[in-house]
Amino acid sequence: MNYRSIKGTKDILPSETPLWQFVEQTIRDVFHQFNYKEIRTPIFESTALFLRSIGELTDIVGKEMYTFEDRSHDSITLRPEGTASAIRAYVQNNLGEALPLSKIYYIGPMFRQERPQAGRLRQFHQFGAEAVGSPTAETDVEIIAMTIEIYKRLGITNYSLQINSVGDEECRPRYKEILKAELLKIADKLSFESQKRIEQNPMRVLDSKDENDKTLTASMPLITDHLNEECAKHFERVKSLLTAYGIPFTVNGRLVRGLDYYTKTAFEITSSELGSQDALAGGGRYDLLVKELGGKQTPSVGFAAGMERLMMILEKKGFQPPKQSPKIFVAAADETAREWVLQTTMKLRSAGIASECDLLSRSLKSQMKEADRQQAQFSLVVGSMELESGKALLKNLTDHSQQEILLSDIVTIINT
Ligand code: HAM
Repeated sequence: MNYRSIKGTKDILPSETPLWQFVEQTIRDVFHQFNYKEIRTPIFESTALFLRSIGELTDIVGKEMYTFEDRSHDSITLRPEGTASAIRAYVQNNLGEALPLSKIYYIGPMFRQERPQAGRLRQFHQFGAEAVGSPTAETDVEIIAMTIEIYKRLGITNYSLQINSVGDEECRPRYKEILKAELLKIADKLSFESQKRIEQNPMRVLDSKDENDKTLTASMPLITDHLNEECAKHFERVKSLLTAYGIPFTVNGRLVRGLDYYTKTAFEITSSELGSQDALAGGGRYDLLVKELGGKQTPSVGFAAGMERLMMILEKKGFQPPKQSPKIFVAAADETAREWVLQTTMKLRSAGIASECDLLSRSLKSQMKEADRQQAQFSLVVGSMELESGKALLKNLTDHSQQEILLSDIVTIINT
């Protein structure tokens, strides 16, 4: 039997994990510096949680979720995103009682049954953060600035930030009616997908990727011209703070996100280095979600970003993470030295030094080849002669220098 990984999933191989670990650490450092604390929620949740939060009419809920009935006949879904779970956990654990503003982050796998292509997987990884409990534009901008800081730290500068305001429960329904009336006038000329959306989700029609739809809707009214005073004021403040922070952006009145929970600010970061799946990150404000999920009215804002898309750019740029090679390879020149080599390697490791020796009973020549392959910084060859004299040559495999050392001093020498 030939087993293969499931379509749309990917092994992250030992040759790739150093980059992943380096990037994850950079992300964690930035989150820490912005004072966000990690939350780890289960990978599966009740299906109802996602229906309620992401929205029944979205593509994610409509056609992308991995949903199954477990043996107790409960409907379970593998999380397609992190916000719903984070807010479920926030409400369930009364996190709002301890702090007026909870700043939380997550990194982990998400699952969506989309058509796989470059930058689009069925199991992919997101890092994201949620600031739960603040209505201020300052918080929106902190979230955006933090996302951008992560890309900057990793040397990614070729991105663009688009922002919009999607209004609130007061002005959005009014705008939707105006838009719907306009869309109905040209309904028969729109793509089938867009026609379906007019009734339930007319704003998504403005976000259509279909070229003909784009032309037809080019002069449609935009939400940014129909915001109520509060939303308009909030949006103005977000824009002026972004400018004050020196973060370039464009306003895209057509930007609607693929999740229903947003109110006011919505944003997306895209990169021209990616193909058709060019969204690096997305997020926005969601002032009604906590209440929707059974908590108190708690204004919140957050973002999430795809790890694989970030990796694609770093790999394209030839980004090299720090090496994870052993510091020393201890080789046995003959059989009598094998036990000493094993014990010394263990001693070095216990002293916190990444060390390797041969476990395959190989010749000295093969051991030295292995030391090169592993890119060890030093090698030490020990045989019966060295054991007798208590001395051996420590070779620096990087600059090819060598020095005679006392075997009893090996840990101290390597440690300095
Ligand atoms: P989202 O836009 O659905 O937002 O996903 C965020 C990012 O996840 C995307 O910009 C993309 O980089 C990555 N992504 C999404 N789907 C895939 C896929 N199939 N394969 C690879 N990468 C993918 C959210 O998930 C919201 N929870 C963001 C948020 C947090 N809003 C408020 N707080």
